Amino acid sequence: MPTIIGISGSLRKGSYNSMLLRAAAAAAPTGTTIEIASIRDIPLYDADVEAAGIPAAVQALKARIVATDGLLIVTPEYNNSIPGVVKNTIDWLTRPPADIAKVFRGRPVGLIGATPGQGGTLLSQAAWLPVLRTLGTAPFFEGRLGVSGAGKVFDESGNLVDDSVKERLATFVRGFAAFVDERRAARVP
Ligand code: FNR
Repeated sequence: MPTIIGISGSLRKGSYNSMLLRAAAAAAPTGTTIEIASIRDIPLYDADVEAAGIPAAVQALKARIVATDGLLIVTPEYNNSIPGVVKNTIDWLTRPPADIAKVFRGRPVGLIGATPGQGGTLLSQAAWLPVLRTLGTAPFFEGRLGVSGAGKVFDESGNLVDDSVKERLATFVRGFAAFVDERRAARVP
């Protein structure tokens, strides 16, 4: 049964993207687990820090990704592109470059995101594509989920309360879980 690791690209407590990730985990079909990992402890990339050793938080996140079957990135959109904090995390995960193969190559990756605005993070999701291509991932392109007007689709406790978004999320998660499972089954041990 597939296990997916999900990261939210926002650190703030009331993050809509973290709410969306929790809703995605709750919507996982029977037999699929979506684990939630935090990027809070990932430091800013600094080659001098790297030269002294890959930080423990980076090593721990890498190990969790490697131990699972797929990666779900829940990305905000900043200035029509990728927020620095989550790009910084991915950049650290590509160090040393010799690890890129085990962390990313052929790895199923799903992208979703939420914004209080109207664009549904679609420009941010598009900006991720060259990164996913460069790392040799297997992006999930059969579904697309961008949540607009996030202030209205989650309640004050962070629960997803909009039926149409709930349905779109369930469809995305079901499709992504099946995609991850197909690749897991095909993988040579
Ligand atoms: C934003 N925001 C934003 N939203 C959007 O839809 N398109 C954009 O280009 C931007 N640009 C942008 C830049 C910067 C620097 C900030 C801080 C914010 C608004 C953004 O979607 C909003 O802050 C979300 O609430 C961020 O996601 P979380 O923290 O709720 O997960």
